[in-house]
Amino acid sequence: MRADICKILGIKYPIIMGGMTLVSGSSLVAAVSNAGGLGIFATGDKAQKGGIEWIRGEIRRIKELTDKPFGVNVAMFSPIVKEIIDLVCEENVALVTTGGGSPAPYMEQLKAAGVRVCPVVPSVEAAKKMEAMGADMVVAEGTESGGFIGKVTTIVLVPQVAAAVNIPVIAAGGIADGRGLAAAYALGASGIQMGTRFMVCKECTLPDVYKQAIISARANEAVVEGSHLPKVVPHRSIKTPAADEIIAYELTPDANPKGFQAMFDAGRVETTGNLDKAVLGMGQSAGLIDSELSAAEIMEKIMGECRAALDGLKAL
Ligand SMILES: Cc1cc2nc3c(=O)[nH]c(=O)nc-3n(C[C@H](O)[C@H](O)[C@H](O)COP(=O)(O)O)c2cc1C
Repeated sequence: MRADICKILGIKYPIIMGGMTLVSGSSLVAAVSNAGGLGIFATGDKAQKGGIEWIRGEIRRIKELTDKPFGVNVAMFSPIVKEIIDLVCEENVALVTTGGGSPAPYMEQLKAAGVRVCPVVPSVEAAKKMEAMGADMVVAEGTESGGFIGKVTTIVLVPQVAAAVNIPVIAAGGIADGRGLAAAYALGASGIQMGTRFMVCKECTLPDVYKQAIISARANEAVVEGSHLPKVVPHRSIKTPAADEIIAYELTPDANPKGFQAMFDAGRVETTGNLDKAVLGMGQSAGLIDSELSAAEIMEKIMGECRAALDGLKAL
């Protein structure tokens, strides 16, 4: 039987806003949780240099803005990972999503503190490994998604992960409306995680020029940096001059991971509204997004569309 993640997480709708470095800050997280989903705060990676006191401040601010459950995303390679884990345990965070390494060293501590652990996985093998390690659920994230990506599409990944593990599976990557939620259910998921859809949200503090770029983007304008080099995790983003320049560099004979990283890092910290210089994550689901909505409007729209999609299928 399909797990009820609303019951498990104490939320109204099976919709999670994925942690997004430099994007999912306290106001957006609280807005998503207040709207009945689960907002996830991103503690960031090396592109973001806030430090543990900044993270503590953001978590406290989320608690001022909502009394609903919320989550925290942790990059396991963060130089302050131990401090972040201690903090989320102290602050009674509902769920931690993890990426960029194994959460094994912290599993016992998180569980003892009542924090549910939900690694983000790009493959069946990783999902099985995380289940064996004690994960409470997994996000199966397809290559359509924004940010760092794996290789397999959501429609192929989710049913395989759902068949391979006995913990709830959340589908992510390429979902931005209620038809996507209905499809995720059909594939065996218990809910969805979205990133790109929530970037074009009234409570998201990104400059308007980025939101407009996502609204006007077609799905094939979600470009990928890093796919031509070894030892680099590819990243999907808005097609900007900076992203195009990086991809052009990858195709030069002297291209190397170090040179790539320098260009990539310079672009990733640009979130002030300079589209030319920005390398900002965006998934293929941009092709499904045509307006900025509030978090509450996104929730209601998706649930309505999902019900309509499921009703429409009854005739089959
Ligand atoms: C701008 C941006 C930043 C992201 N940063 C992170 C991150 O820091 N950690 C993480 O686990 N996932 C990150 N993601 C992935 C999202 O949490 C989510 O899984 C993904 O966006 C889902 O695919 P979608 O964009 O098609 O909705 C990011 C995505 C975007 C678009």
